[in-house]
Amino acid sequence: LKKIAVLTSGGDSPGMNAAIRAVARGGYNYGMSVYGIERGYQGLIEDQMIGLDQRSVSNVLQRGGTMLRTARCEEFKTVEGRKKALANLKSHGIEGLVVIGGDGSFMGAKLLSEMGMPTIGIPGTIDNDLAYTDFTLGFDTACNTILDAINKVRDTMDSHERVNIMEVMGRNCGDLALHAGLAGGAQAIVVPEVPMTAKEILAKIKEGKDSGKRSSIVVLSEGAGNAETLTKEITKLDSSLSVRSTVLGHIQRGGAPSMVDRRLGTTFGEYAVRILKDGKSNRIVGIKDNKIMDMDIIEGLKVKKVFDKELYDIATIMAK
Ligand code: F6P
Repeated sequence: LKKIAVLTSGGDSPGMNAAIRAVARGGYNYGMSVYGIERGYQGLIEDQMIGLDQRSVSNVLQRGGTMLRTARCEEFKTVEGRKKALANLKSHGIEGLVVIGGDGSFMGAKLLSEMGMPTIGIPGTIDNDLAYTDFTLGFDTACNTILDAINKVRDTMDSHERVNIMEVMGRNCGDLALHAGLAGGAQAIVVPEVPMTAKEILAKIKEGKDSGKRSSIVVLSEGAGNAETLTKEITKLDSSLSVRSTVLGHIQRGGAPSMVDRRLGTTFGEYAVRILKDGKSNRIVGIKDNKIMDMDIIEGLKVKKVFDKELYDIATIMAK
């Protein structure tokens, strides 16, 4: 393989730059020319390609976001769009592609592989919603951002003896709420995988209060509800409580990647280039039991996410 390209697609996540850098430098190590495609599949259709030599990825390891920018592209879902994309790759002599993104981006990678372009996917999303890998790129940093917010909000909640409902991202996956909630000492963790009524959440808050807690934080996954609505419901059920809500929003997607995500991005990127060089295609890279691995795209997407009930139960015990 002499020429390869890399793109980021879908929602950005901290550590994507580390992965781009690793593809560029990993490729350089094997004597390949590496190209970056800007704005994901959209940029591929519009032929927005830039050269990525070793120096053009200097100073990006520590930055959040993606230096290649990203997009959610409707045109790539059409046969015409994909044909244009493939023609552009071929006209530049690209022989392999690395796609960094979530499940939607992986479907695109699968289709390109089927059209004869060797393609490897790297799981880049803060949601940790891809079951074939233990962790996705950006999840750890987003958890740390949530933790920082919990710590800050707790100071003021405790001073005022209040309750805070903190809504976090994750789509239909409760992992961000679960992991950050456990590490942040949440009084209740509300996730789509374990539905809970406002009454049940209130019971948990009261349990804490009755045992002498001055304040509590409820971490609510966006897939399980809405902070404002839940705040109103709880206040209506118990007007003696002073309840406030916080919606963290896109702050969770930005910021300098943690050590974990820099290491993950670097090892994912280098591994993706290595398996491309070895002739593999239609694979997604992941980490399982602390070991970098790869798997067929469709097989990987078929793996069903199992909610970590054990961790959830421990968080419940810790809230006593
Ligand atoms: O998939 C990542 C994510 O941040 C989700 O957690 C969230 O629901 C969604 O993207 C937000 O998307 P957008 O940035 O398009 O508003």
